[in-house]
Amino acid sequence: MIKNSLIFARAYESEEGGKIPADARPLFHLTPRIGWMNDPNGFSFYQGQYHLFYQYYPYDTEWNSMHWGHAVSHDLLHWTYLPAALAPDAPYDSFGCFSGSATELPDGRQLLLYTGVRKEGGDRGKDLQTQCVAVGDGLDYSKYAKNPVLDAGDLPEGLSPYDFRDPKIWRRTDGGYRCVVGARRMNRRGVLLLFDSEDGFRWHFVSILAENDGRFGLMWECPDFFPLDGKDVLFVSPQDMLPEGFEYHNGNGTVCQIGAFDEEEKRFIPEHHQAIDYGIDFYAPQTLLTPDGRRVMIGWMQNWDTCKNTGYEDRKWFGQMTLPRELSIRNGRLYQQPIRELALYRSRAVEYRNVSVRDCVSLSGIEGRSVELDLRIRPEKAEAPYLKFIMRFAQDDQYHSILSYRPHESLLKIDRKFSGSRRAYIHQRRCQVANHNGEIHLHVILDRFSVEVFINDGEQVMTATILTDPSARRISFEADGRAVMDITKYSLFSED
Ligand code: FRU
Repeated sequence: MIKNSLIFARAYESEEGGKIPADARPLFHLTPRIGWMNDPNGFSFYQGQYHLFYQYYPYDTEWNSMHWGHAVSHDLLHWTYLPAALAPDAPYDSFGCFSGSATELPDGRQLLLYTGVRKEGGDRGKDLQTQCVAVGDGLDYSKYAKNPVLDAGDLPEGLSPYDFRDPKIWRRTDGGYRCVVGARRMNRRGVLLLFDSEDGFRWHFVSILAENDGRFGLMWECPDFFPLDGKDVLFVSPQDMLPEGFEYHNGNGTVCQIGAFDEEEKRFIPEHHQAIDYGIDFYAPQTLLTPDGRRVMIGWMQNWDTCKNTGYEDRKWFGQMTLPRELSIRNGRLYQQPIRELALYRSRAVEYRNVSVRDCVSLSGIEGRSVELDLRIRPEKAEAPYLKFIMRFAQDDQYHSILSYRPHESLLKIDRKFSGSRRAYIHQRRCQVANHNGEIHLHVILDRFSVEVFINDGEQVMTATILTDPSARRISFEADGRAVMDITKYSLFSED
């Protein structure tokens, strides 16, 4: 069991993590120091910098007993690794320190609230999940002697102690603490529970905040609940979703519900629901409030259904975080924008206006794998709309990925089937976008192994990981019919 000790993990990651060359990682998306990464955890601003912890297994590029990796940043774009914060080394978390969140205590210490998992009745037993606390100084954390702080005895009747996880904590306005935790009924449908605490250590059940009526998958993982632009917003990552038109897709999905918190009943009343991301690789997002009042979200840029296929057996890391995104509500919908700090790292703008696109065109200076592209596409003549616009990227003679838009169907598609994958996993996804007479605005961010597409000023976002070697740098355009494009490309962080 020495492997599960924090000392061992810290020594291992510092030895092995340093062997990964910087150019084998994305430029500004966080990857694990070494090994496996899933959900963002403990995303917070503490003692003058941003902290991001993550679900972490240092010893392999596959999921295994969970540790918490740790990184800090001043701008949410340049990350510095700190030593792992938690290892599964206590009896109540011997199978893993699962997802959780962070807040600051009045005495200046940082409190981590996470799910401790242990096998009930030995290795082959069921996962018993409880909520646990660790307290630290931003570097070293000690697990609370009275852990767990919430267990089966705190659950309302009929809820399973085997799926009770992912606490998201925040400060109440009266100075106390509140958290929302995922759980499920015996019929496998998810519920979200609210718990309160005066000191962050002793917790009690308050209410069922929200409940899965069968529309959104089964178990609900990784909830987040926060006020935004006069509304209350609930994020959840349901398992086993069924598709609903173009709004959700099968498997592990994400749902944003916008509505109002009923203070009397301590229940959330939803008014609108939508997917958070419409691409392929996005799950388990977590938000924080920046010191200047922005609600910023970061998600795991992967999907459980596709993550077995790294495509690179020799790669020593697996899993990336998305770009941090600023959230807002407009016209009752969730909008996302890349954090504004990214604009500080733009350089070498290359700009073209009114480019007529029909047969395949490449434009001098428009290429690269760590770039930002701002594209506005429209029909050349309103009376002769184009049928399809295509952008190929991460392209060389053998590989490419595609973004394509069909205005008559209002569908934007991402397709990475020719990106070098040798597996039959999900390669395409389509998103129904607003129809503005064939005009569309795409803000595309490439960072070596990923693409994030902010559609129509962030009304929708599509995210996908890309396997293709970063040497495939070409970008080209084509249309079925005649389209006109304005494009600006920026290099990011002086690359490309
Ligand atoms: C979501 C999740 C969480 C859990 C963690 C385990 O991706 O399944 O519910 O806490 O991952 O690594």
